[in-house]
Formats: sequence, C-alpha cells, structure tokens
Amino acid sequence: MELVVLENGREVSRYAARIVAQQLLINPKTVLGLATGSTPEGMYSKLVRIFNEDLITFEEATSFNLDEYVGLPKDHPQSYFRFMKENLLDHVNFKEGANHMPNGLAENLEEECVNYEKMITSHGGIDLQVLGIGRNAHIGFNEPGTEFVAETHVVDLTESTLDANARFFTSIEEVPKKAISMGIKTIMQARKILLLVIGGSKADALVKTLEGTITIDYPSSVLKLHPQLTVVADKAAAAKLKKIK
Ligand code: PGA
Repeated sequence: MELVVLENGREVSRYAARIVAQQLLINPKTVLGLATGSTPEGMYSKLVRIFNEDLITFEEATSFNLDEYVGLPKDHPQSYFRFMKENLLDHVNFKEGANHMPNGLAENLEEECVNYEKMITSHGGIDLQVLGIGRNAHIGFNEPGTEFVAETHVVDLTESTLDANARFFTSIEEVPKKAISMGIKTIMQARKILLLVIGGSKADALVKTLEGTITIDYPSSVLKLHPQLTVVADKAAAAKLKKIK
C-alpha cells in the first residue's frame, strides 16, 4: 500500500489525475473504474485539462462506473450518469459506447447486475479503479454489513448515506433509497485501486480503512489486502492516522 498525504483537496485531485493520466499513457486501452461524488470532481476537472493539453487520449479506453441510483431518470440532475457526462465524458474523447454505468431503470434489476458484472469480465476486468469512501467507510454503495464476496448487486442505502446525499436533493424523501453497486469482490478484482480521501469528515473512515481490523462493518477495511492500493489523502482526512503522527 502506498499512502500519499497532501496539503489539501486540490493537491489530491492533481495527484490523482496524474495517476490516471499515467495509466492511460502506459496502456491506452485501459479499462477504468470510475467513481462519482464530490471527492473525484476535482480529479476529473484536472484530467480534462490534461486532455485539453493533448497529453492524453481516451480514444481506446473504456470505463465502468461503480454505481447508480435505482429509479432516477438518466437526465435527472443527481443521476450519476449525468454527473459523469458533466464532469468528464462530455469533455474528453471516449468512443461512443465505451462508457458503462449500471442501469438503475432496468426492468429486471437482478439481471442488470449479472449483465454488468459479465460486461466487466468480457472487457478483461478493471485496470484502475478510482474510489472514494463514505463517512461510514462504504465503498461504492457497499454499505456496512455487505459481504466481501458480493458482486454487482442492488443495495438498500443506509440512513448515514441517505443523510449525506440529502444535500443534493430538495428533501431527504427525494433521495433514492436503492442503488446498483459493483460489489466488493468486483472492486477488489481491479488490478490497481486509487482511493481518494478529502476532508476531516472522512478522517474516522480513513482510520477504519487503514488501521482497523478487516471487517464487513467497515467495508473499506478490506482494501488494505489489495496488493496495488494507492491512497491519496489530504491532511485533514489523514489527521487521525497514527502512522503519520
Ligand atoms: P463524496 O462520497 O465523495 O461525495 O464524499 C464518497 C462516497 O460516498 O463514496
């Protein structure tokens, strides 16, 4: 595991964008695992900048997103599809059809999950998975209690996550209660994992991730078993880690 602690979120974003850019340079056919949320936003904007400087191309790359809400229309302002379009996909040169997201409007959600997992496998698996963590140490929408062997599945979101997401909706009632998420097994099968952690509200979750025992009560705690994990955190997020004190 490599832990990089930087001054602030801006620096985390810049560092993370360079890791993704480097991956695209090493392997233009990279299969990226992408995340949504406020954490990776800055990374995407830096990546767009690097792309605009003609330093990288996404032409041969593929992407799979971690998760999507169930029941939100694709063009809903809070859908992860819309987030990805606005933050990355509309600004770079992925080929049509190269970007995959779970379909939260599928008639048969279970079948959608199985197909999503198969699609990842048929692309040879994920080369680099970008991740954030929730305040409750969830990864993707794998909430506490999710078995580590889970593949892509339908999840019931916990109170803590509904609460955290409520800021994006006009009321908590509007926040979708279910989502489709890659499973922890899916995530752990990625060849490399890039975990970004920004802000003091994630400090406890980062301690559980890196210093606690491995337990399904803190899903991100399993990440420390991954042989190619890079954690990039800002000082505020890393403030409670024993190792760096
Ligand atoms: P955030 O979410 O980046 O919006 O804090 C991260 C997560 O919940 O995985």
